[in-house]
Amino acid sequence: MPKALVTGAGGLIGSYVVREAAQCAPGWTVRGLRRADMDLTNYAALCALFADFKPDAVIHCAALTNTPLCEAEPDRARLLNVDVTARICELAAAIPLVFISTDLVFDGTRGNYSETDKVNPLGVYAQTKAEAERIVLTNSRHIVIRTSLNAGVSPTGDRSVTEKMRMAWRAGQTLRLFTDEYRCPIHASLTARAIWELLRQGQAGLFHIAGAQKLSRWELGQLVAARCPELNPRLEPASIKEWAGPPRAADTSLDCSKAQAALSFPLLGLEHWLKSHPSEPF
Ligand SMILES: NC(=O)c1ccc[n+]([C@@H]2O[C@H](COP(=O)([O-])OP(=O)(O)OC[C@H]3O[C@@H](n4cnc5c(N)ncnc54)[C@H](OP(=O)(O)O)[C@@H]3O)[C@@H](O)[C@H]2O)c1
Repeated sequence: MPKALVTGAGGLIGSYVVREAAQCAPGWTVRGLRRADMDLTNYAALCALFADFKPDAVIHCAALTNTPLCEAEPDRARLLNVDVTARICELAAAIPLVFISTDLVFDGTRGNYSETDKVNPLGVYAQTKAEAERIVLTNSRHIVIRTSLNAGVSPTGDRSVTEKMRMAWRAGQTLRLFTDEYRCPIHASLTARAIWELLRQGQAGLFHIAGAQKLSRWELGQLVAARCPELNPRLEPASIKEWAGPPRAADTSLDCSKAQAALSFPLLGLEHWLKSHPSEPF
C-alpha cells in the first residue's frame, strides 16, 4: 500500500487533497499534517516523521500564503516557503514530491502564461515561491503545480478567495473589486484531483492547473454574490490603476493545456463549476 504525506492539511488545498484521496488514490494511506501536528520548521521532528512514516510520495501544501504578511515579514516567508521546502526536498530526494506554486510568479503584463514562459515575481510571496520552484525542479522526479485563486471551504473558514468575500459581506463591508485584474479561478476540489492524477501517472516537471475561464476580480465577485444573496453582498467596480500598495500582477491567467492533455477531467472555470454544482459549498 503506497503512503503519502500531505503538508498543510489544515489549509485550503491540503484539506481538499486529503479529502479527495478516497476517490483519487484508493488504497493509499494518506497522512495529513496540520500545524497542530507539527511545526515544519522543526527539522528534527520532520526527519523523525520521514524515518517513521516512510512516505512513498509527498504533497507539500504548507506555506505562508498571506501576501501582506509575507511583505511585512520577508524572513518568515523565506523560512517557510523556501527553506522548509528545500528541507522537505532533501528528505524526499528518492520519492516524488508535489510542490504547489502560484500564478503570481508571473508579473502579469501579458497573461495566458505557459510553463515555458519566463517568471518575474513582483512581491515577497511570489519571489519565495519562484525560488522554491527552482529548488524543487532540480529533482527530476518532482512536480511543481502552479495554480491560481482557489475557491472552496477551508477548515478555518477564512482561506479561500470566496470565503474572504463572504467574510467581508458578513461584516457589512462593500468590496471594491478590480475590473482590470485577471485570474483563472478554480475550485480547490479540482486542484486536488489534478494533483493526485499527475502524481499517480508518474508525471514530473512543471504544470499549470487553473480554471479554464479567465475572470476579472469584479466578474468573480459578481459570481460569488449571485450565489449568496442572503448576505446582501455589496460590491463596487474599481481599477488596478488606483492601487497604491506593493506592485500587483494585472493578468496572471494561465495556459493549462499541458496539464489538461494529461488529465481525465476538464479544469472547469469557476463559473462553469458553480453552474454544475448548484448546491455544493464553495
Ligand atoms: N489558495 C489559493 O488560492 C492558492 C493560489 C495559488 C497558490 N497557492 C499555493 O497552494 C498552497 C496551499 O495554499 P492554501 O491556500 O491551502 O494555503 P493555506 O490555506 O494558508 O494553508 C497553508 C497551511 O500551511 C500551514 N503552515 C504554515 N506555516 C506552517 C508551519 N510552520 N508548520 C506547519 N504548517 C504550517 C498553515 O497553518 P496556519 O493556518 O496555522 O498558518 C496552513 O494550514 C500554498 O503553497 C500556496 O502558495 C494557493
